[in-house]
Amino acid sequence: MKKVFIATTTFAEDDPSLLKTLVKAKISPTMNPYGRRLSEIEITDILVKGQYDGLLAGLEPLTEVVLTQAKSLKVISRVGVGMDNIDQVAAKKLGIKVFNTPGVLTDAVAELTLGLILAALRKISLLDRKMRAGVWDKQMGALLKGKTVGIVGFGHIGTRVADLVLAFGAKVIFTDVRKLKKAKAKQVSLAQLIKLADIISLHCSGKEALIGEKEIQAARTNVIIINTARGSLIDEKLLLEGLSSGKIACAGLDVFSEEPYKGELLKQDNVILTPHVGSYAKEARILMEAMAVENLIQGLKGRE
Ligand code: GLV
Repeated sequence: MKKVFIATTTFAEDDPSLLKTLVKAKISPTMNPYGRRLSEIEITDILVKGQYDGLLAGLEPLTEVVLTQAKSLKVISRVGVGMDNIDQVAAKKLGIKVFNTPGVLTDAVAELTLGLILAALRKISLLDRKMRAGVWDKQMGALLKGKTVGIVGFGHIGTRVADLVLAFGAKVIFTDVRKLKKAKAKQVSLAQLIKLADIISLHCSGKEALIGEKEIQAARTNVIIINTARGSLIDEKLLLEGLSSGKIACAGLDVFSEEPYKGELLKQDNVILTPHVGSYAKEARILMEAMAVENLIQGLKGRE
């Protein structure tokens, strides 16, 4: 029997047969006992004490320190697409195989993004809060039709968001590290995108703040900023300043520099906050978990 630790907290909730699949493949699974994202110390402790061969990974920090100490670990299978929590150089050096689940969460993240865009334009969550507080306040919103949506990172998710907003009659510009030719959207530099977009939506990876002081200053007054990628891509303090000054009309955020997020943005009215649930559509989660389980089984069997 191989031993596998499952770090994601909602694993097999919608498809309990995945646990049977693991057992059939002679894998003994252990669930995350904390029910939340693990810290560097916690995951190290678990991997060292439990002598696990495999890890079904969420977004816990899998740094060089963790991986070096987890001597029995052979496979990390991410239930998700982003790999920024894994030191891939260290994993390679230590002979630990790393897999992820690209493609299967594209629709889920893109549809949440669209939801945040529409909620921002029509102030849906603000008006909902007001009504619950007994205030019948007909605030004016705006259309998505005719707006310029600037997509930062034109991979699977960025492209799908473009398709969705194009269907609403928006115009799409995008920026990407690769040179791409697209019929329905124009590639521009990040600086041009910031200047031209009514709505900026982030769909890239990376740990550095792409949206900082210069970008917020250069952006259109009343810009809407959506982030369903990674919290580190926006300087949160400057975002808060922009939201309270009114330079930024609204932000829709699913990701934060620190998660769970407990910061000052919670007090701000013109921001819509969700707890990193981009991939949390049942259909997508089932596909992601099944793919991650298959990657894990194959990886433990020796597949690269
Ligand atoms: C979620 O954020 C993922 O990277 O899968």
